[in-house]
Amino acid sequence: MHELIDHPCVQHKLGIIRDVDTGHKLFRELATEITKFICYEALKNIKVKEIVVQTPVAEAICKKIDTDLVVVPILRAGVGMLEGILELVPTARVGFVGLYRDEVTKQPVSYYQRLPKQARGGTCIIIDPMIATGGSTVAAIELLKESGAAQIVVVCIVTCPEGLALVEAAHPDVPIYTAAIDDHLNADKYIVPGLGDAGDRLFGTSH
Ligand code: PRP
Ligand code: URA
Repeated sequence: MHELIDHPCVQHKLGIIRDVDTGHKLFRELATEITKFICYEALKNIKVKEIVVQTPVAEAICKKIDTDLVVVPILRAGVGMLEGILELVPTARVGFVGLYRDEVTKQPVSYYQRLPKQARGGTCIIIDPMIATGGSTVAAIELLKESGAAQIVVVCIVTCPEGLALVEAAHPDVPIYTAAIDDHLNADKYIVPGLGDAGDRLFGTSH
């Protein structure tokens, strides 16, 4: 299952973040803002429980998030989405998965992982701005499943049909939320039109 967040406020910001003339400061700010909007939708089905709150007037039946939330940025570029989701769920825990795409094979290479113990039995939200071939996302989901995550949700900013097909075929139980489903991958496995190399644009580095 995937859901495209087609809200005008998100799509307006997406037009700016894609722009080749947008520098890393603005790129980072927009990544945070867009992430917050997408996550607002992505978290709509998380488990809540009813609680009773005493207002100045009477008792109110309210809802409280009832699951351990673990946000998992895929290093590096996923870190650019961390601030946005933590503004929404400030008590979430954070785990890290380090993956990079081999420049020749384009296959994900794992180099780091550190998850809080609450990932076991908890709800893990993978954040990564780009799902291109989908290889990195599939690898991150597999790692979280091996770690005992009860529920996994993926949030990205831009993806494409090839990436969605790979992730959904491997993990049909994991929903994906995105602000864009672009046209295709080019020969270098970059998303077209995409936004270029998300990590480089976020952190002001270049090849
Ligand atoms: C980018 C991106 C994803 C991955 C997507 O990371 O942030 O993790 O590529 O590609 P895929 O769907 O084909 O696996 P990259 O490997 O460039 O590493 P970085 O975040 O360290 O720049
Ligand atoms: N990684 C990126 O940062 N951008 C792409 O288009 C594909 C992979």
